[in-house]
Amino acid sequence: MSSLPAFDFPDITRSTCSDILIEADAEDVLNSIPESSIDLIYIDPPFNTGSTQRLASVKAERDANSGRTGFGGRTYKTTLISSHSYEDSFDDYLGFLLPLLERSYRLLATHGTLYVHLDYREVHYVKVALDQIFGRSNFMNEIIWAYDFGGRSKQKWPAKHDTILVFAKDLGNHIFNYDDIERIPYMAPGLVTKEKARKGKVPTDVWWQTIVHTTGKERTGYPTQKPEAILRRIIEASSMPGSWVLDFFAGSGTTAFVSQQLGRRFIAVDRNPEAIKIIKNRVNMANVQTFGC
Ligand SMILES: C[S@@+](CC[C@H](N)C(=O)[O-])C[C@H]1O[C@@H](n2cnc3c(N)ncnc32)[C@H](O)[C@@H]1O
Repeated sequence: MSSLPAFDFPDITRSTCSDILIEADAEDVLNSIPESSIDLIYIDPPFNTGSTQRLASVKAERDANSGRTGFGGRTYKTTLISSHSYEDSFDDYLGFLLPLLERSYRLLATHGTLYVHLDYREVHYVKVALDQIFGRSNFMNEIIWAYDFGGRSKQKWPAKHDTILVFAKDLGNHIFNYDDIERIPYMAPGLVTKEKARKGKVPTDVWWQTIVHTTGKERTGYPTQKPEAILRRIIEASSMPGSWVLDFFAGSGTTAFVSQQLGRRFIAVDRNPEAIKIIKNRVNMANVQTFGC
């Protein structure tokens, strides 16, 4: 793995050092980050879907002269507002990810935790690789994020979940803020005491959470953007105020945005200039040091 030439990485061991945004290939950055300095890593790598991830935002306006007919027989004109994309096809997926996972292990502090967000295509291969890097005894959870949106296959069970693999650097010494985890309603509140039903329960390893809605206010227009609620749960549970949170496949900056909201410090890396532009618009840039962008 190479290091970004002439890349003067800030001294993140200083308590005054604040958020960092880098436009670069992850491979060129990770060697510049000091070992054992990161409290939490969340990554959502490309899933190897075999195609380009693309999302276009379109504005529809009434236009009597347009040939497009919509609700109630009214005619509309559509204008493309923005279109974002990134490549998601790999001949050797593990060859791409493995060096980055090995480096992640070294970057984590002893109390640190790694969350790797994948779907059904690559998750099993990555689990085996992570067992080797972290040791099976440091495997913490396989979180299933279940949603119910989008097209449904009629030839197989519609795939409506992602998997988030969680490994502690040193299980037992890891941060896990059980009491800070936001509680959710019981599925069958009638089966528990009124007091328990009122308090709600700590979520299990199956997380029902809707995807970022196409018209929702957190929508940035970046493809494969993840819900803030997922990142809020992860960051609250596995880091402390002031902690360093690293995401080297930052995309639209969900990790960076939520980290800032929760008083953590982020290092966000993405090689796609479109992603960096969106992050700059999304987070408070007042105290963010930028590199390559
Ligand atoms: C699935 S998206 C991340 C989405 C993000 N979690 C969000 O909520 O918006 C994966 C991102 O990884 C970036 N990426 C892919 N390969 C990379 C690499 N080698 N180094 C840095 N970024 C990379 C892509 O540009 C893309 O933005």
